[in-house]
Amino acid sequence: MRKEGLYMKRMLSGIKPTGRVTLGNYIGAIKPFVSYQDEYEMYIFIANLHSMTIYQKPADLRQNTRDLIALYIAAGLDPEKVTLFLQSDVLEHAQLGWYLGCMVSMGELSRMTQYKDKKAKNEVIGAGIFNYPSLMNADILMYDPDYVPVGEDQKQHVELCRDIAERFNSRYSETFKIPEPLVTKVGGRIMDLQNPTKKMSKSDEIGKGTIYILDDIQVSKKKIKSAVTDSDGHIHYDPENKPGISNLLEIYSILVNRSIADLEKQYDGKGYGEFKNDLAEVLGEELEKIQTRYHEIMSGSYLDDVLEKGAQKARIIARKKLAKVERKIGITIRKR
Ligand code: TYM
Repeated sequence: MRKEGLYMKRMLSGIKPTGRVTLGNYIGAIKPFVSYQDEYEMYIFIANLHSMTIYQKPADLRQNTRDLIALYIAAGLDPEKVTLFLQSDVLEHAQLGWYLGCMVSMGELSRMTQYKDKKAKNEVIGAGIFNYPSLMNADILMYDPDYVPVGEDQKQHVELCRDIAERFNSRYSETFKIPEPLVTKVGGRIMDLQNPTKKMSKSDEIGKGTIYILDDIQVSKKKIKSAVTDSDGHIHYDPENKPGISNLLEIYSILVNRSIADLEKQYDGKGYGEFKNDLAEVLGEELEKIQTRYHEIMSGSYLDDVLEKGAQKARIIARKKLAKVERKIGITIRKR
């Protein structure tokens, strides 16, 4: 049974609406969110301000944003239980992001892997990529969550957020709760199907290593069947020596909600072909369910209503928190 308000711990997380939603996002983030919604008070948002750190075609951004919110719901998030909102609808995020950006050092921001990876590519990068964690810190600290469920790649950002919260609290007195990153043991880092030593990402140049949730289902099944594995033919979980099959085992385990050990037992002595066929079927069924629901949600004005309601709820908390911060740091001068 769902516990009531005061007794529930709070969770917050977000996803950027850049590119199409991948199986990595689904397994590492969206599916865990759905599993937490009865246990926690949840705030889930679309990080559309963060998406501006890389140029987005306006029409694509609009489409990807609507797709993402519809996918959250299609995957099972219930807007009656979870507060779903757009980051840009709550103006306080950007303002708190500015204050927190003034409290983080250039050294700390330079150590962020996401920034370092982008820099290593030697392309021209905007200042937004560098300053990105400050806005993320604001997204999180604004709502005093106990936990921030994220994939492995975002853990470093949440750890920086903890440092900044502690810094603020010790400089200005207790203001923010120190959040904990929550990375699922299985599925926290889904790998590229063609190169299982690399994270599955939205920008998959060849196109065969990443599964997109809204893609043609037959194409996605094919990608599973042609995923790179190894030649020893034994279905066993060993991410270091058998990254391909281990990645598929993680995907399978999350999709059917069974342990990896259990799946290993079931497929003991069976070949990769049979395993991949079964996984392709399971994935196909899950995608079909999500896509059917997605199309229902996309027609009509349901999404707009959900976002409006979510923004109203989020704004109440955000306004209060920002006012508190501004009083503490000396920005507010009015007595009343
Ligand atoms: P983003 O949009 O890159 O990714 C959204 C979520 O999906 C997870 N993820 C993965 N998990 C497993 N395997 C993968 N291959 C994989 N790829 C992505 C990510 O870890 C993430 O949890 N900065 C964030 C968005 C953000 C945010 C926040 C998150 C902005 N503010 C506040 C939490 C709290 C991002 O770019 O996620």
